[in-house]
Amino acid sequence: MTVERTYVMIKPDAVSRGLVGEIISRFERKGFKIKALKMFKFTRELAEEFYAEHKGKHFFNDLIEFITSGPVVAMVLEGENAVETVRIMIGITDGRRASPGSIRGDYALDITKNVVHASDSLKTAEREINLIFKPNEIVD
Ligand code: CMP
Repeated sequence: MTVERTYVMIKPDAVSRGLVGEIISRFERKGFKIKALKMFKFTRELAEEFYAEHKGKHFFNDLIEFITSGPVVAMVLEGENAVETVRIMIGITDGRRASPGSIRGDYALDITKNVVHASDSLKTAEREINLIFKPNEIVD
């Protein structure tokens, strides 16, 4: 087991529905440490860079419209096997098919408005953390 850091983001649908505390609380109760936390609104430019791997896909424009539609809450979580464990906790992309008990399974009924994002690999986590947070925003 290795201690890892991952990037997690509560999306505009969950922020406007008042689910921020509930979602952060799940990660804290699981045992993850919050190393950075902030609320901000994506510019179109930053959103397109963040989701660059999806450019050209049929859902890209809807995704950018959605993620820039309101504030998000971004965090860096640290703990054993953080990348894989957090992905299990959030559930699969489509909220309608995500397992009950997962965050998307409990709170999402849509594939675009799916409440939360988390890095899918250590390499992605490093890229996303560095894109969203300055080094002095992360607590050691
Ligand atoms: P996320 O985990 O943030 O990564 C890409 C996002 O694109 C995804 O969550 C959804 O919000 C959105 N999306 C919309 N449609 C799809 C799709 N068919 N496949 C994957 N992601 C999709």
